[in-house]
This record gives sequence, C-alpha cells and structure tokens, in this order.
Amino acid sequence: GETITVKALAERMCINAGEVIKKLMELGTLATINQEIDADTATIVANELGFEVNIKVELDKETQLMMAEPEDEEKDLITRPPVVTIMGHVDHGKTSLLDAIRHANVTASEAGGITQHIGAYQVEHKGKKITFVDTPGHAAFTAMRARGAKVTDIAILVIAADDGVMPQTVEAINHARAAKVPIIVAINKIDKPDANPEKVKRELTEHNLIPEEWGGDTIFVEVSAKQKQNLGELLEMILLVAEIGEYKANPNRAARGTVIEAELDKGRGPVATVLVQTGTLKVGDFIIAGVAYGKVRAMMDYTGRRVSKAGPSMPVEVLGFSEVPPAGELFYTVEDEKFGKQIIDERFKKKREEELKLTAPKVSLEDLFNQ
Ligand code: GTP
Ligand code: MG
Repeated sequence: GETITVKALAERMCINAGEVIKKLMELGTLATINQEIDADTATIVANELGFEVNIKVELDKETQLMMAEPEDEEKDLITRPPVVTIMGHVDHGKTSLLDAIRHANVTASEAGGITQHIGAYQVEHKGKKITFVDTPGHAAFTAMRARGAKVTDIAILVIAADDGVMPQTVEAINHARAAKVPIIVAINKIDKPDANPEKVKRELTEHNLIPEEWGGDTIFVEVSAKQKQNLGELLEMILLVAEIGEYKANPNRAARGTVIEAELDKGRGPVATVLVQTGTLKVGDFIIAGVAYGKVRAMMDYTGRRVSKAGPSMPVEVLGFSEVPPAGELFYTVEDEKFGKQIIDERFKKKREEELKLTAPKVSLEDLFNQ
C-alpha cells in the first residue's frame, strides 16, 4: 500500500520531525526520520496531532488503461468466428491438416517439414468464418497463457491413427483443460493401412475423452489430411461447438488482442501478426504491445491483401511498430497518443528496474569473509 517517510509527513504538517517521532513512540513504534510508515499509521499520527488526512492515490498509467476498458453491454455484442488451435504429438499431422483445410501446402516448403512459425488464417465454411492459429508445439500456447492471454476457443487434438496417444498428446490435453477450452479429437491418417481409430478411442478414454457413441460427450472426427477426407465434417463440428460456446465480442470499441508472432523484416521493419479479440483495429490507430508502440501504418490479411480494418477474431499483419513485440503479448489501442506514450515510458522504467534487479551483484556474508 501507500507509504510516507516520517520526514515527509512532518513537512506536510509543517511541524518538526521530532514531534512525529515522539508521537510514534507514544503509539509504540520506534521510527527514524527517513523511515517509511504506512498510510494507516500516518493517519493516526496526523489525527493525534490535530490534522486531517486526505490520502490521494496516484494511479499508474497501466491501471488507468485497465480502468478505461469499457464494460460491454449485451446489445453491443455480435457473434465472432471461433478461434481454433490445432495441437498434438510431433508428426501426427497438425500442419498437414491445417494446410489441407486451407488448400495450401506449407509443409513441403518447410525445412524438414517442421513448423517453424506461428501462422494464423481464416477459412469460410457454409458462410461462416473460422480462425485457425498454428502454434509450434506448445511453447507459444504456454507463453501466451503465462501472459494472461487467452487466444484459443477450441482445441483440435490431432492423433495419428497409426500411432495413438503419445506424450505430447497428453500434454496437449492438459494444456487445453487448463485453459478450459473444449477439445475436438481429430483422428488423422485414417488412409494408412495400419490405421486403428478404435485403439485411439480406447486409449483416450483413459484421459476422460469419451466418444458420444460410447456414452461420452467428446466429438471425434476421423480424417485424412493427405487424402482430404472428412475435412468438411471437422469444420462442421467446429461450428457446432462454436454455436454452443456463443463466442461474442463488441466490434465498436478500441481494439485489443494478442500478438501471435512478430519479426524484424528487412524492408518493412517490425512486422507483427496479431489476433484482434475485441473491438476493431484500424489503420492509423495508436497501438501498444509490451514496450513496442506505434501508429498502424498498414494491415494485411492472411492472404497478403491490404485491409483498412480488422474486427474480432481476425488475424492481421500489422506494420508500424517501433520495435518487434514479443509473441503472446497483449496489444491495446489508445485514442490519446500522449497517454499511450506515458504507458510505454512507465513500462520501460519497470523493465529497467527489473533488469537492474537481475544484474545487481548479490553479496552474501560468506563472500565478504572469503575475500
Ligand atoms: P510437427 O510440426 O513436426 O510437430 O509435425 P506435424 O504434426 O505438423 O505433422 P506434419 O503435418 O508435418 O505431418 C507429418 C508427416 O505425416 C508428413 O510426412 C505428412 O505427409 C504425414 N501425414 C500427415 N497427415 C497425413 C495423413 O492424413 N495420411 C498420411 N498417410 N500421412 C499424413
Ligand atoms: Mg507442423
């Protein structure tokens, strides 16, 4: 809480610090002139000395930012596309499935077929949009959650039908559960001769994922990313789960969301892919993410097409940041550029203090004696 030094308190009352120290002693506290005393104690001392205390708390800009966040009213909310993350064990076909869904082919161009970036894309099925976020392993998922970001609405758990439940499958289940995100199981590679979907289902019952046909409530879809089999059904199921989840947002407010990935591009400067989660992000908006800030200079959708605005659940590439914001960082837009810069100054200060704390040499008693 708030504190004040004995000296400062005495100065405010235009009295001698000795009188404050004396009063504190009467109250059972031994204090020196530079000692910090808490607001309650200061109030008692001042009252005893015949002063009234008016504690003014100077809110930091960060708190002001949070307090400026408006509460959405039900009437302002519209249905937004679900945000889906594909998770699963190495090589079970996460990238292939995502590619098959958006009819592209990233896997072939990736070195060794391993996902090396986070991408975010949108597809349309029966007139309804679905946003897919591709995470490399679970690192990004964890980093985002550590920062308090909740990006994913629905997790697709991919399991290869010829391999079954593996360590990272279990990890993915735990991540999704910790984030309270519904899981849809996609049993992949059913085209393979040694595919055994029944075995996968049996193994998953041990993790409390039980298919509806066995009396449970988990949706299972058997797919082949390679042969593009049952992908429509998978999308159908995503939309079904989304309908139950009723994901909504207010498009008519200052945009807020999460940085999905970011890098320094030689020609374009810092480039960040962000997911708008509420409000509408527009070209010209003043945006902050961590200690990165700037005016949105240009925005591109996942196909590279320039857009002037992006509403809830839309992933866009943003140009105009002062530096590369870290993946998983929350972004905000503020109307008042000066206020935005004050927040950044405050964050820089905090960052520096933390760095100083980390680099300050720690001297123990033993070190002193061993010199
Ligand atoms: P990491 O990103 O490395 O964790 O792998 P991933 O889960 O993204 O798997 P990826 O999509 O790279 O697929 C791994 C291998 O499985 C590749 O050789 C794919 O061609 C193959 N594969 C993926 N889906 C299918 C499928 O439905 N059937 C068959 N037969 N092979 C598939
Ligand atoms: Mg991959």
